Amino acid sequence: MNLVDLVTMAREAQRLAYAPYSGFRVGAALLTEEGHIYTGANVENASYGLTVCAERIAVFKAVTAGECRFQSIAIAGSGLDYIYPCGACLQVLAEFSTNIKIIAVNENDDLREYYLGEMLPQVFSLDTSSRRVK
Ligand code: THU
Repeated sequence: MNLVDLVTMAREAQRLAYAPYSGFRVGAALLTEEGHIYTGANVENASYGLTVCAERIAVFKAVTAGECRFQSIAIAGSGLDYIYPCGACLQVLAEFSTNIKIIAVNENDDLREYYLGEMLPQVFSLDTSSRRVK
């Protein structure tokens, strides 16, 4: 699986977005350590705050299929800007991997690559929280 294939799958997933409120469709493709790919698209709601981003849909699909070790995630949207995960999605990704590669894509399929640690350098993690309750 190369990055271009992962981006293509994120782009295909984007078509399945349910985004009648923002009109902004996002697709994500998550590659697991086992080599499987889980895709997601944003799902909005009339109660706006209940909207779930494409990245979290992909993560939750993988985790509920029994896979929670991730290599990389590609995120594709519309517009010239690169699509970066929101803070909530970074936190959810960090639950499973602080080393995951994040591939941000713009509408021309230009790529920018990061590691989660660059985007969320100080993370509230299981380690941090369990240290707190001791
Ligand atoms: N959105 C995502 O799905 N992923 C991102 O990385 C950024 C934002 C969605 C949420 C909402 O449905 C729409 O984009 C506009 O914010």
